[in-house]
Amino acid sequence: MSAKVKTAYRCTECGAESSKWQGRCDSCGEWNTLVEEMVAPRATAASGSSARRVGGTRSLAEGGSVAVTPRLREVTGSEAKRWRTGLDEFDFVLGGGIVPGSMILVGGEPGIGKSTLLLQVAARLESAGHKALYASGEESAFQVKLRADRLDAAASDVQFLAETQLETVLATAAATEPAALIVDSIQTVFTTDLEGAPGNVGQVRECAARLMRYAKESGTTVFVVGHVTKGGGIAGPKTLEHIVDTVLYFEGERTLDHRILRATKNRFGSVDEIGVFRMSERGLEPVPNPSELFLGDRNRIASGSAVTALLEGTRPVLIEIQGLAAKAGFGTPQRVATGYDARRLALLLAVLDKRAGLSFAQLDVFLNVVGGVQLQEPAGDLAVAAALASSVYDRALPADAAFVGEVGLGGEVRPVSQVERRVAEAANMGMTTVYVAERAVPRRGTRDVNVVGVRTIGEMFQRLFA
Ligand code: TYD
Ligand code: MG
Repeated sequence: MSAKVKTAYRCTECGAESSKWQGRCDSCGEWNTLVEEMVAPRATAASGSSARRVGGTRSLAEGGSVAVTPRLREVTGSEAKRWRTGLDEFDFVLGGGIVPGSMILVGGEPGIGKSTLLLQVAARLESAGHKALYASGEESAFQVKLRADRLDAAASDVQFLAETQLETVLATAAATEPAALIVDSIQTVFTTDLEGAPGNVGQVRECAARLMRYAKESGTTVFVVGHVTKGGGIAGPKTLEHIVDTVLYFEGERTLDHRILRATKNRFGSVDEIGVFRMSERGLEPVPNPSELFLGDRNRIASGSAVTALLEGTRPVLIEIQGLAAKAGFGTPQRVATGYDARRLALLLAVLDKRAGLSFAQLDVFLNVVGGVQLQEPAGDLAVAAALASSVYDRALPADAAFVGEVGLGGEVRPVSQVERRVAEAANMGMTTVYVAERAVPRRGTRDVNVVGVRTIGEMFQRLFA
């Protein structure tokens, strides 16, 4: 087959086609954008049994065929048949389990735990009676066996294939008919129909497209692993996101033992849901209560520590924010933020100075969002402000207080979305007071927790430190 397949090069910027590879696109002038691509053979006959050829008069439809168009109510589906792996956090992120016949991309930095997670998923599927085939181009059978030995017993039942040629992977899958096929990783598989090396954009896209076709035709669920580097981009996951049904990103600091699985695209569920796992010596364990994990090591009597409730998808999670304002040496004082946007920090410092009379001109400022979490929601502003003020005054905040609100340039505290759910999670975690924008105080009384509305940060500092 390989001799007959024609390939061409297409620019990923402007879409122009070229018969040979070149460093620069003739059409748009961009560098390094040409990607090898298969030229699809012209269909000679109508494809599929549901089609019939159209007569010759309508030239626009030439070569096309009439397809069956059922009413949507007549379409039957398999939504009810999701497979639950029993790894609760994993099922949750997918929207309630694995949809048979779907294709799921699991992206993440090397070493974060993608292979471990998918081997565990394969093992759970095996225990539930769904055959799983694990194809690895990265590790030998023995390496994967060693990993399987550390995980639960069912991991040893997973069928293994050490292979990088996609045709062989697909032929093996077609013969063994697994319920789930795992391809680890998309950067190591290649098709002989394209000349490029494994991992280049053309190969990655073509292999993914064929795996997708295989998933839809056979009803097999296909998982693909995609490595992402620190930079984010690279030939890989980013170029596949539009092909697959579901994109999961596995993230976390390698030095910490918890990992966050995040759905950034999901044709079968909502996005931005997260699942939290802990990497132990027996693999990944779901963490049913993330807030507990993130607040676990909190020093409740030190100044500069404040708690906020973030919303991760539909799930509120309590996070600790630490601020440290220390006398600067010489030169420009330092501003260091971890897990928080540096410009946002500069802005808040200016607001604290101007609206609450807290000067940081002679102070180095360090801000840390605990647990390797990225604080992107404005809802965390109020806690950041409280943590910094607490450090400046060197007075600890009440240990059982949480702060939820956006801070505006005028020093005003603004309401954020879903305050009730955040307050409820704070109450669940034993918080007794939650500071929010005055307008955000729920009209219905809240049990177990005192919701305090404040109009400005100045007013809040009065209450806290006066
Ligand atoms: P791995 O799944 O190989 O990462 P990826 O496929 O994303 O590159 O996981 C690698 C790390 O996980 C490795 O540093 C060892 C650690 N690990 C554990 O801590 N416990 C375990 O039970 C396993 C299997 C791995
Ligand atoms: Mg791996």
